[in-house]
Amino acid sequence: MKKTKILIVEDEALIAKDIEKILLILGYSVSTIITSGRGITSKIIKENPDLILMDIIFQDKVRGIDIARKVRKHKDIPIIYLTAHSEHSIMQKAKITEPYGYLLKPISEKDLEIAVEMALFRHHIEKKYKKKMKRSLLESEDRYRKLVENISEGIVMQNKRSTITYANQRFLDMIGYKEEEVIGKPITKFLAGGLLKKQEVKDAYNPEDVKKLSEISWKRKDGEHVFTILSPKPVYNDKGQHKGTVAVLTDITDRRAVEKELHHSRELLRKLSQHLQAVRERESKRIAREIHDELGQQLTALKMDLSWISSHVNPQEERADKFLQKIDSMSGLVDKTIHTVQKISSELRPGLLDDLGLVPAIEWLAQEFEKQTKIPYRMQLFCELVDIDPDCSTAIFRISQEALTNVARHANATMVNISLKQVDSALVLKIKDNGKGIEADEVVAPSSLGLMGMRERARVFGGELSITSKPNKGTTLKVTFPVERIFKQ
Ligand SMILES: Nc1ncnc2c1ncn2[C@@H]1O[C@H](COP(=O)(O)OP(=O)(O)O)[C@@H](O)[C@H]1O
Ligand SMILES: [Mg+2]
Repeated sequence: MKKTKILIVEDEALIAKDIEKILLILGYSVSTIITSGRGITSKIIKENPDLILMDIIFQDKVRGIDIARKVRKHKDIPIIYLTAHSEHSIMQKAKITEPYGYLLKPISEKDLEIAVEMALFRHHIEKKYKKKMKRSLLESEDRYRKLVENISEGIVMQNKRSTITYANQRFLDMIGYKEEEVIGKPITKFLAGGLLKKQEVKDAYNPEDVKKLSEISWKRKDGEHVFTILSPKPVYNDKGQHKGTVAVLTDITDRRAVEKELHHSRELLRKLSQHLQAVRERESKRIAREIHDELGQQLTALKMDLSWISSHVNPQEERADKFLQKIDSMSGLVDKTIHTVQKISSELRPGLLDDLGLVPAIEWLAQEFEKQTKIPYRMQLFCELVDIDPDCSTAIFRISQEALTNVARHANATMVNISLKQVDSALVLKIKDNGKGIEADEVVAPSSLGLMGMRERARVFGGELSITSKPNKGTTLKVTFPVERIFKQ
């Protein structure tokens, strides 16, 4: 086995000789450098010993500490200081070079043996530990690199001057550039012009305000735009100084396109539904008129004819009484039919709405509701609706009708409050019952087509529908319209 090699660096040849003798007896291989002149450092490095015994101060003022520092910069060799000075200040300075021990001159054999053994043992352990540390550091670095490179999010780092210092592959793929085209360039160079101002980028990266996520768009090398969600985090150094930003970017270009498409098709559906409502409303109006006017007139004529017949029945006639009785019951039936026709016609589309306006129509609606359900109502109508858009008036009427139908069908209420008020620049319709209440998930359920219809009708005129409810404490349906949208222009 190769002998452990110890190098003695001393300026006093006698002391060096003494130490060498002891070490040889202990079985080490020993070489000695008697310090004089320059070039000691390179000599030591050339020797490449396993341990150095170094005089702390040489006579010609060259300090062993300085040499030790230089040596340790190049090689990991343990050093034991030999000193005649146990002064505190020198020891302190020597500490910087991480010595493995001190030996005070004159040196005893025992002390030397212990110090050498200890230093060699400690160095051996440390070397093993350092190797292990290095390996696990490399492994962990490798793990992180793989993670960062394979992640489906783009990662980009920039310094305080907004210069890109790192970009992962995903980010490079997103913007279609190569790494060398990106590193060292200002991040603003890759942002889609006009979509986000430089100041906004700065704001987005403001270290005090990085919690917020923002949407940011990039211009790819091929000119296409990429939309991303940006989540920036500031980077600080050990001293807590702000050094830059690391940002995680999620590509939402496809999602954006889908959202746009979805939005578009929703708009189309909304328009179609509006159109169908309008067609239905027109049709109802026409049928209601026709039933009311045509059927009504014909029935009235029929009634007049019956009255004529009745006045021309000859009382002397044998069965005159029977005739008169029959005519009377026919006339009653015609009256009933006229009433039914009026009812059907009003239900289809109350003429009141077109002839007298929204307020009387809602009053009629409430009376009909009370008549049919025996649920009393209270009404507050405080508004001037002379110039209201007729389509909006229809919408408000239909919403009220549907809401009252719901109270009748679902609420189990004993009272209903209807109010229509102008509050500042909004017209507010409220229908409140004291029934069993409505479940939150029922409000948004896709099967709640009645509620959805009300919401859609309101939306056409910029109205917002809200439903508040507590179990067994009733339900309040509130629709708020901005006044400027509901009056005729
Ligand atoms: N005023 C109310 N009180 C209690 N439940 C209600 C009320 N209005 C609506 N609901 C509940 O909400 C559901 C959805 O209402 P809606 O969309 O009008 O559908 P539909 O009346 O056809 O069932 C109803 O089925 C009912 O359970
Ligand atoms: Mg309903």
